[in-house]
Amino acid sequence: MCGIVGYLGNKNAVPVIINGLRRLEYRGYDSAGIAVLNGGISLEKCKGKVSDLEAKINGSIKEANIGIGHTRWATHGEPNDVNAHPHTSNNGSLVLIHNGIIENYASLKEALIQRGYTFASDTDTEVLVNLIEDVKKSENTSLAKAVRIALNQVIGAYAIAVFDKDNKDQIVVAKKGSPLVVGVGEGEYFIASDATPFLEFTKKAIYLEDDEMAVINRGQDIEVLSIPDNRTIDPYIHQLEMDLASIEKGGYEHFMLKEIYEQPKSIGDTLRGRLLPDQGLIQMDGVYQFQEKLINANRILIIGCGTSWHAGLVAEYIFEELARIPVEVEYASEFRYRNPVITEKDVVIAISQSGETADTLAAIKLAKERGATIFGICNVVGSSIARETHAGAYTHAGPEIGVASTKAFTAQVAVLSLIAIKIAHKKGLLKESYYHRLLSELHEIPNKIEEMLKSDAQSKYIAELYKDAPNFLYLGRGYNFPVALEGALKLKEISYIHAEGYPAAEMKHGPIALIDENMPVVVIAPKSGQYEKIVSNIQEVKAREGKVIAIVNDGDSEIAKMADHVIEVKDTMEVFSPLLTTIPLQLLSYHIAVMRGCNVDQPRNLAKSVTVE
Ligand code: G6P
Repeated sequence: MCGIVGYLGNKNAVPVIINGLRRLEYRGYDSAGIAVLNGGISLEKCKGKVSDLEAKINGSIKEANIGIGHTRWATHGEPNDVNAHPHTSNNGSLVLIHNGIIENYASLKEALIQRGYTFASDTDTEVLVNLIEDVKKSENTSLAKAVRIALNQVIGAYAIAVFDKDNKDQIVVAKKGSPLVVGVGEGEYFIASDATPFLEFTKKAIYLEDDEMAVINRGQDIEVLSIPDNRTIDPYIHQLEMDLASIEKGGYEHFMLKEIYEQPKSIGDTLRGRLLPDQGLIQMDGVYQFQEKLINANRILIIGCGTSWHAGLVAEYIFEELARIPVEVEYASEFRYRNPVITEKDVVIAISQSGETADTLAAIKLAKERGATIFGICNVVGSSIARETHAGAYTHAGPEIGVASTKAFTAQVAVLSLIAIKIAHKKGLLKESYYHRLLSELHEIPNKIEEMLKSDAQSKYIAELYKDAPNFLYLGRGYNFPVALEGALKLKEISYIHAEGYPAAEMKHGPIALIDENMPVVVIAPKSGQYEKIVSNIQEVKAREGKVIAIVNDGDSEIAKMADHVIEVKDTMEVFSPLLTTIPLQLLSYHIAVMRGCNVDQPRNLAKSVTVE
């Protein structure tokens, strides 16, 4: 949460920072700010989006070659102009941006107040910038040294960038718990929460590790140091593979729509080189080192948050059915704050699109301490979770920018399917003919989605009819129960309509009381699975005059007769049906949200990368 950007070089820092902030808005967008050095400090910040900041600046900031910027998701202090970053220290010399939480900010603040410091904002960040000023003054030392000493007093998470108004040639950055990457150009440096702000300028990037800081001086090599012991660290320069097109809308009205339509490609990319149906093979390097652990695992614990947790629930069905390994799926936040029983025979699979979710990261650390082997499934290459796990597989879905996750979910399910099939085959649990059918059917999924996406007229039509409904119920059974949860989550995230996902059979234990002629009920009812049972559930809804929107297989005339509306999806094996049934639910939510005038890519109060616990 929160995006940070910085620039030091020969370009005008102002547009570089503003454009960078736009790319990082997915990380938070309740306020934004910029500070540059051009003779003195020029600082503007305000509540609202980057576009509001731009309007406020309105060309008033003169050209500068050094600067920092921030887009915020509020933790300490409501979103307003004063709490927005950057924050300036009391004597006006230091300017700082911060992503993370300083947990001991209250005691640090108290000590600073005793020393005569005053605070304008409610933020933990203003405490940090003043702590650095205080150390710098009292130790009569450099900014870099003051940052290091101050950070050694701090408990919490941070990615920071700070400069001194008297030095237009230096920015100091540091990281613990929140991401920070430095782009290395020709005679210029870029600082950002991820690499997207500087992709058009350089493909060389240094990802700082936790407890590392970097001193970036104009015209000099970057100096990376360890914060606890001041050790010099040789930075590894990554060559980025992402291209600019992958982070632009490419003609679509919203990133979310683009990402929904990218799914044939993103799932194809996830499977490419791994799924080889002609040779009857699944090849995954990450799993190769890890497969004995999985085969011999007492149980698999899957942890994640939000949509990634839903992918974990789908995986529970797949692993238990195919690989016959007991699976438990846990919210990372709950797992972290109880006292889970974990043994060395447990394998933990952590799922995260961003690879930065604080709760998931903390849960991994806990499971690691207790001896479990951790396998990560992340989309963002080089992310904290990817680095924290023992082994892993990337989803290769490409950058996902819309805050509501779409293509990352299907890519996660695709990767988890590959792993489950591979392990099941290794364990000798699959008949050869069934194994080959699984491979070729999974291989066909991108084509089937492509076909399904040729028309979304039906989901648009249904969206128009129900866009004003105050509630929605989503029902599914077996593999499609997690899809019901995901469909409901998509709707509430972006349209602000209250929606609940439920196992269809559980409806009669409560939610059925909600059903009347005003309640739209989305029922996921493909032919595979417990079709007859779900048909009965549809009858139960109809008997109470609920409006049934059924997701069915092509040409299903039985349900078409009883449902108010049907949306057809291609037929597939039950184990892969979530990969198809999810698609119309994504489109339905998208259209409803657009028709309600909601900001689809940046829904209120949410952030894509949740780096606070
Ligand atoms: C946030 C996002 C969700 C996402 C969840 C988990 O809530 O808005 O779309 O599913 O975090 O994120 P992760 O990056 O760990 O998958």
